[in-house]
Amino acid sequence: MKRPKITIVGAGNVGATAAHICASKQLGDVVLIDIAEGVPQGKALDIFESSPVDRFDCRLVGSQSYDEAKGSDVVVVTAGIPRKPGMSRDDLIATNAKIMQSVMTEVKAKCPDSFLIIVSNPLDAMVYLAHKQSGFPKNRVMGMAGVLDTARYRSFIAAELDVSVLDVQAFVLGGHGDQMVPLPRYTTVGGIPLPSLLSAEKIEAIVDRTRKGGAEITKLLGTSAYYAPAASICEMVEAIVRDRKRILPAAALCEGEYGIEGIFVGVPVKLGGNGVEKVMEIELNDDEKAAFATSVDHVKSLCDGLG
Ligand code: NAI
Ligand code: 2OP
Repeated sequence: MKRPKITIVGAGNVGATAAHICASKQLGDVVLIDIAEGVPQGKALDIFESSPVDRFDCRLVGSQSYDEAKGSDVVVVTAGIPRKPGMSRDDLIATNAKIMQSVMTEVKAKCPDSFLIIVSNPLDAMVYLAHKQSGFPKNRVMGMAGVLDTARYRSFIAAELDVSVLDVQAFVLGGHGDQMVPLPRYTTVGGIPLPSLLSAEKIEAIVDRTRKGGAEITKLLGTSAYYAPAASICEMVEAIVRDRKRILPAAALCEGEYGIEGIFVGVPVKLGGNGVEKVMEIELNDDEKAAFATSVDHVKSLCDGLG
């Protein structure tokens, strides 16, 4: 049986780190593509040379040409500019929309049967654009943000309670912006509902830190985060190439689910060998509905702005 082929467009911080993790986990052979001459080639070779030491069997190549990507099973798009301190993700839209359009032209031609995981920001608008430009069916187009936002939320809870991160189960709903909606009512620690373990004030502080989690790292680093984003990408790649049927939050096209029509936004999905196999609908109370609606409205206005 052939190894899955994973193409990652954008060999910058997020893309190269994701390539390293995908290879280390032996998820498949990896192709790194970037417009920067020599960069994807150099990073792919460097990661490949770590394989005898780290004991993984994958091939990695880097290129400026999408010819290397032909026949890819999964294409991850991280091409685009990241934000600098003080910028919002939305400030990236004009530049990254142009990049996304050019990337989709190539992906559609060279990888017509692939599953697309979009990462570039502003995420929900970029995945909407990628879907329109590629014409791929909705199960094969998704955005990565919810796994990252949830990982941040889970980390903060585990640190606060001094428990294993493995025992914190949760998810974050909505767009990948400051109005995202972490859901304490659906958060459990070893099966125990979070509200019975932490005060409302502590939970609110964690929710607020989660919403601003990207900005917290950007302020410290001077550029945006990449270790947790890359790990989150690889969790989604793994769910697809190993048909894990994971229940993960992802930006998926909603067509009536949650009363949303025609936009991509973060919702819990079943992710497996057929991509987004199902959007899971859960019951929300009035406050959760209102917070989700605010987030969805913001995503809608960004998508409308794309024309
Ligand atoms: P980076 O600047 O380190 O890397 C971006 C790479 O894209 C560069 O190497 C650049 O040469 C390349 N690139 C630009 N135009 C291209 C094109 N037309 N074709 C191929 N490659 C092209 O940026 P970083 O930190 O890797 O972030 C990438 C994107 O991912 C940003 O838009 C950032 O906001 C987003 N991001 C999204 C996250 C999410 O949760 N969805 C999390 C972290 C970052
Ligand atoms: C993050 O949340 C910048 O979207 C990126 O770290």
